[in-house]
Amino acid sequence: LGNLSRETFNLISAKVKFLIIAIDGPSGVGKSTLSSLLADKLGGLYVDTGAMFRCLAWRWQQLDCPEDDDALRNLGLQTRIKMASNQIWCNSTEVSELIRSEQVSALSSHISKFSVIRDIMKQKQRELVEDVRNSGSFSGAVLEGRDIGTVILPNADIKFFVDADPEIRAQRRFDQLRQKGEEVEFDIILQALRERDAKDRNRSIAPLVPAEDAILVDTSNMKEQQVLNTMLQHIDKIK
Ligand code: DC
Repeated sequence: LGNLSRETFNLISAKVKFLIIAIDGPSGVGKSTLSSLLADKLGGLYVDTGAMFRCLAWRWQQLDCPEDDDALRNLGLQTRIKMASNQIWCNSTEVSELIRSEQVSALSSHISKFSVIRDIMKQKQRELVEDVRNSGSFSGAVLEGRDIGTVILPNADIKFFVDADPEIRAQRRFDQLRQKGEEVEFDIILQALRERDAKDRNRSIAPLVPAEDAILVDTSNMKEQQVLNTMLQHIDKIK
């Protein structure tokens, strides 16, 4: 405790609450950008859980894995995922760009419906939060995905469900891919997005639905900064 009295220390600790923020929503809604901006602003750890499913899907494809429970369990347990300084590593490969292809997007949605995979991901994601809470090096954690508020962290301090019209989300995705120099067609992007939405929303385990206590944010007609401010206002109320 150094020069701090136990009383002062307790007072400071009580004030600096470890804040857990859950952000769910469909693809292309801007969750990743919003979550990482929020984490930066609040000094929290940012966890992109979609990237974790994408790593599994990428490795599944590389290994040409069968679809049975044992093979999927091995895949889940033997895939080491590391996210640090804007880079994502899957075992010993840097996959930050590789996991963003349309093919991996579709495969990650497919692979995420299996309960063995979801159970392993749930454990890994909860461990991440506990590790960072115990390390004391962050003031909280911002996790984004599909089932964070409903399944992974039902006791999160605040939950957001971010949504936008499919056409608008497809346009954002189309622009991103075009910027990267990829030859893509808008209609194909929109169709893939609708298919992935349907799979994510209708699967039997951990479907994409807002938690009962989630704050709904429709970003269709909002600029990024507006969305961020709205979320920060809600967060301020519970701090
Ligand atoms: O957020 P994303 O588009 O990178 O996610 C890719 C896929 O991973 C998504 O279509 C469904 C799955 N996913 C999931 O099932 N649960 C999560 N918490 C995050 C992603």
